[in-house]
Amino acid sequence: MKLKQDEIEMLEGKRGLPVQRAMEFLVKYGDVLGAEEMVDTQNICGTINNTTPFLDTLIDKFESFEHLVSELNYNCDDVREIPRVSAFSCQLEHGLDPDVWEKQYIKKSKFDINEKDEAISRRMNLNLICTCSPYLVGNLPVFGEHCVWMESSAVAYINTAIGARTNCEGRESSACSMLTGKTPYWGLHLPENRYGHYLVDVQYHIESVRDWGLLGYYGGMIAGEKIPVFNGIKSKPTMESYKHAGAAGASSGGTEMMHVVGLTPEARTLQEAFGSKKPEQNFVLDRAEMERTYNLLNTATNPNVDFVMLGCPHYSLRQLWETAMLLEGKKISPNLEMWVFIPRALKEVADRNGYTKIIEASGALLMADTCPALARAKPPTAKVIATDSAKQSHYMPGIFGAESYFGSTEDCVKAAITGKWEGRF
Ligand code: F3S
Repeated sequence: MKLKQDEIEMLEGKRGLPVQRAMEFLVKYGDVLGAEEMVDTQNICGTINNTTPFLDTLIDKFESFEHLVSELNYNCDDVREIPRVSAFSCQLEHGLDPDVWEKQYIKKSKFDINEKDEAISRRMNLNLICTCSPYLVGNLPVFGEHCVWMESSAVAYINTAIGARTNCEGRESSACSMLTGKTPYWGLHLPENRYGHYLVDVQYHIESVRDWGLLGYYGGMIAGEKIPVFNGIKSKPTMESYKHAGAAGASSGGTEMMHVVGLTPEARTLQEAFGSKKPEQNFVLDRAEMERTYNLLNTATNPNVDFVMLGCPHYSLRQLWETAMLLEGKKISPNLEMWVFIPRALKEVADRNGYTKIIEASGALLMADTCPALARAKPPTAKVIATDSAKQSHYMPGIFGAESYFGSTEDCVKAAITGKWEGRF
């Protein structure tokens, strides 16, 4: 890899041992990927340790917590003090909500680790936004911006809806970029890798956020890690439409980017979406395919729901508002729990607008910073889950061995009130 002067200095240790170790990691990473150079970045979203579910079993094996951080995030065991980040960096979701962790059925030992971890992150000058959707609360990249982001749904969102550029990074690579402000110039950073591969002729009227979740899930299934191009969509999506489509595609496949012809910034026309290439394969997404996809996400047979989970990816303000309006003056069934996840920064708005009061008066709980999949936490007796997230419906059966229903937000709130699933395609 051809390195610039500042990168050589980092590699030689002139900016200290932690930066040297971080640059060594990035050079190896770039070499394996065939990158010829590094690109500068000033926008990194990663997660320092916190979502590692087995962290409490590791802690005694290290001489200090910072030693563990060094091993886990920088792949080295000789760094004992992690310095401040040198590029604008944000902490993604955490493993618990420090305000309501007991209601999440989480052990005190995990809460204690979370506190230590936050202290290190704060000292590193990481922005503790603690959400999987940084674009909702203060980190909204611009078109063409080189980013280093973890969290598959957020990666798909910024590549697709904004035209910012990131690969789907890991904890180590993003942690190393935080200290260096560099990332290997490969994958979706390169313009030639951003063209579509598969063409999907959409013959179904895609309208609701639920429909977009199904479309994204279908795209992930047919395209894997390639880029699907959806053509023929007549409605106008919202930010939430892309949020749910990207999250769904990243769970059924490895979607990091999609094109929607006439709507997303790098696909104003069909030709722009493919460049000079021809589609590798053609698909038709019609009513029958949409229904088949819906059925794949609705694996539950027991109509009695005992857990309703909303806010995957973390809810936007519009979704929070909608949920509060649906719950206003109602009570959820005493036979279930309902948890709604938002970014911490929106909690202030929820409190101020009275949404927290409305949601809590219904018997549901508003939570921030985390989600059941990340926290590996749900009500202990929950066996039948309802959610408006295709991503969550995909993962819940595997993580918790629970049955799962997927539908609209309205379907889910209705299930929370009646205790029964009545959603239909
Ligand atoms: Fe976010 Fe958890 Fe879903 S981190 S995307 S709410 S699985």
